[in-house]
Amino acid sequence: MTKRKSYDELRSARWMAPDDLRSFGHRSRTMQMGYSHEDWEGRPIIAVINTWSEAQPCHMHFKDRAEWVKRGILQAGGMPMELPALSLSENYVKPTTMLYRNMLAMEVEELLRSHPIDGAVLMGGCDKTTPGLTMGAVSMGIPFIYLPAGPMLRGNYAGKVLGSGTDGFKYWDERRAGTISKEEWQGVEGGIARSYGHCMTMGTASTMTAIAEGFGLCLPGASSIPAADANHQRMSASCGRRIVDMVWEDLTPDKIITETATRNAVTVAMATGCSTNAIIHLIAMARRAGIPLELDDLDRIGRTTPVIANIRPSGKEYLMEDFFYAGGLRGLMKQLGDKLDLSAMTVTGKTLGEGLEGAQVYNDDVIRPLSNPVYHEGSLAVLKGNLAPDGAVIKPAACDKKFHTHSGPAIVANSYAEMRAIIDEPDYPMTPDHVLVLRNAGPQGGPGMPEWGMIPMPKALLKDGHRDMVRLSDARMSGTSFGACVLHVSPEAFTGGPLALIETGDIIELDIPNRALNVRLSNEELDRRRARWTAPTPKYERGYGYMFTKHIEQADKGCDFDFLKTEFGGPTPEPEI
Ligand code: FES
Ligand code: MG
Repeated sequence: MTKRKSYDELRSARWMAPDDLRSFGHRSRTMQMGYSHEDWEGRPIIAVINTWSEAQPCHMHFKDRAEWVKRGILQAGGMPMELPALSLSENYVKPTTMLYRNMLAMEVEELLRSHPIDGAVLMGGCDKTTPGLTMGAVSMGIPFIYLPAGPMLRGNYAGKVLGSGTDGFKYWDERRAGTISKEEWQGVEGGIARSYGHCMTMGTASTMTAIAEGFGLCLPGASSIPAADANHQRMSASCGRRIVDMVWEDLTPDKIITETATRNAVTVAMATGCSTNAIIHLIAMARRAGIPLELDDLDRIGRTTPVIANIRPSGKEYLMEDFFYAGGLRGLMKQLGDKLDLSAMTVTGKTLGEGLEGAQVYNDDVIRPLSNPVYHEGSLAVLKGNLAPDGAVIKPAACDKKFHTHSGPAIVANSYAEMRAIIDEPDYPMTPDHVLVLRNAGPQGGPGMPEWGMIPMPKALLKDGHRDMVRLSDARMSGTSFGACVLHVSPEAFTGGPLALIETGDIIELDIPNRALNVRLSNEELDRRRARWTAPTPKYERGYGYMFTKHIEQADKGCDFDFLKTEFGGPTPEPEI
């Protein structure tokens, strides 16, 4: 039997219990909202951190779901307190949500610290919200449960199933090639996102919620439930009930995010055919918990973990709704067998293994057995070489196999605008062997690493029927993207990484089986060019963008702010009341 906390030991009791003037103020203002002493006395106060907003289509149902969470909290004897946080819609927020992931993390940490909160249910799902919310709560260190928004329903147009992102990109290539009409294009527009919930491909959102569950931060099965399924209401209430007990049990995140849990989360990520973005977030999340996860660890686990979720874009057929019906993440984790360490503790207060009891796979084409994977090793490969001394990533499963070993001349653009001019020029001299190189789009250069890495196929090649080529950048790409795109080249060009030194015509050598990425230039030549190189001007001279550019770390370190790292400075004190 775990020792249970007493009321006096709760953080919120520091605000609410003492017989002094400050606490009188807290109590009288709580009563101003209509509450009575019975509402808080002897009860933990639970934050419901809600990323609902009218600028967040993926979280439209959270306005309602927060009520289900609160219902659970009340049933279990807690007092709910809903606190809104940055909603970070992947599709509206410009130049990129990645500019604001750390802002959300800071907001969550400080919301939890500055208020009388004992535990939290974090409501997120759209790409950056999962890492943002969890990073902040991990740094704060109080018990929390992550409640994923759930994927939206499958897209549908004219009898065809449509996948978020992936099919938009595909139809856009056809539109540019002139093979579909305006009416068809508009039909796709109206059919590709037809319910609330996050993107239903295995993009960044689905990957990140699966990772959260793999870490043990969700109730079992939570990440796979479609947003529009009544199971989601029930799951919301369950989170509310469970968090109250977690507070009494003092089940803090440091007891859950261990090295074991981190390995499990990485394994789950690889088996889902995960988004390249996940690499950055996984590293950042683990490091917030004091686990020094490195790119090489990810590559090592990737090499022995096959992709078994047959979900687009790595898989051919299916979407997240199919994944849920096939058994969901619990089914997938069951299938992974001893590749996971089932002894890991989770938010349930039980082990990961106990949470998988009774899990089954109902369709082994959607969730494949290890003996019949979608791809024989993990979906991501980490490349190194004289072009990326600190690493770069590629998704081999999502690109044409003929590019796995490739060398070809570079066509270099210093900005996205320059690249756009190149790809829109129908007569630009190039062959499918050329390598498109985009730079100054990294963590500092973007800033915020916009998702420009899946450079659209150039018109000059589309017209001859080509649909893939090697593209290289210090940017990211959407988790729903595909193609031979080498991303996250570190160090980035903006800081003078080797990517800054290459010129149009240099030969780029890509060798995925040997994890190598090089430019065919001697060290002497690279040094000569480095001596001539001048740093570009930063885009922001004031405000958040300025602070971001000064403090953001490179992609291989997880793109956290240096001052938010666990090991930075001393421990943050509890606020004086
Ligand atoms: Fe929100 Fe894709 S836009 S998850
Ligand atoms: Mg995305």
